[in-house]
Amino acid sequence: MPEGDPQATAATVLRVVGLSKSYGGLKAVDDVTFDVREGEILALVGDNGAGKSTLVKALAGAQPPDDGRIEIDGAPRQLNAPRDADAAGIGCLHQGLGLVDTLNVPENVFLGRELRTRRLGLVPELDHVRMRERTIDLLARFGVDLPRLNEPVVKLSGGQRQTIAISRLLLKDVRLVIMDEPMAALGVEEGRRVLDLVRAMRERGVSVIVISHNLEHVFQLADRIAIMKNGRLIDVVETASTTRDEVVRLITFGRMH
Ligand SMILES: Nc1ncnc2c1ncn2[C@@H]1O[C@H](COP(=O)(O)OP(=O)(O)O)[C@@H](O)[C@H]1O
Ligand SMILES: [Mg+2]
Repeated sequence: MPEGDPQATAATVLRVVGLSKSYGGLKAVDDVTFDVREGEILALVGDNGAGKSTLVKALAGAQPPDDGRIEIDGAPRQLNAPRDADAAGIGCLHQGLGLVDTLNVPENVFLGRELRTRRLGLVPELDHVRMRERTIDLLARFGVDLPRLNEPVVKLSGGQRQTIAISRLLLKDVRLVIMDEPMAALGVEEGRRVLDLVRAMRERGVSVIVISHNLEHVFQLADRIAIMKNGRLIDVVETASTTRDEVVRLITFGRMH
């Protein structure tokens, strides 16, 4: 890598060492070791059943591994529950997004950490004004324009809902965001907006692990590409020095030739 390249000198946020997870006799994740740098987008690719979701579930604290080690900023962390991942600064974008349809945008962004005020200095109530202001701030920082903040989010598009779910993670000052197939259900234009948002996160030093089957998106977005097959991590390649053909070969055959 050329000297002065920021990626080359970026700190390691996450290190995974020898991670394994079996279901019965099946090694879904088999001795996987890799790291993620600060402000890096790492794409995780592989055929169905390669072990991608199992791997990121371990990082999200949703499914503790059988073996191996996870380090955040150089310190080992036990991620036995989602709240452990939360405390470690890891945010996970689940497929269902975890939004409450009947609540509006600020209420969803602040879900579970609502701001409160005291009316007449006495009666505690939700501080809708401040939550709305902070939501607008947050969205503006990441270049997002959501016109209908007061509508129940059920009325918003798939891409807008995704943006809200991501905003909720950003509110928590996450270091690492994990996205499992975020663009899968979106149209072209909406998918592009989510790509923009992911890039905006990188610009602010947030690291992203994104699982995607869409190699076009992967090549547009990722700094490095991690390829899994049959539970093993085949390789991690720099996007700039590989081709789609090479990545397809790694996914399919587990090797380049
Ligand atoms: N909860 C589970 N119980 C049993 N087997 C599972 C479970 N989750 C995943 N698997 C198996 O583990 C392997 C890896 O699955 P997964 O991590 O979902 O792969 P990917 O996300 O790459 O498609 C597959 O063979 C899958 O059938
Ligand atoms: Mg999966």
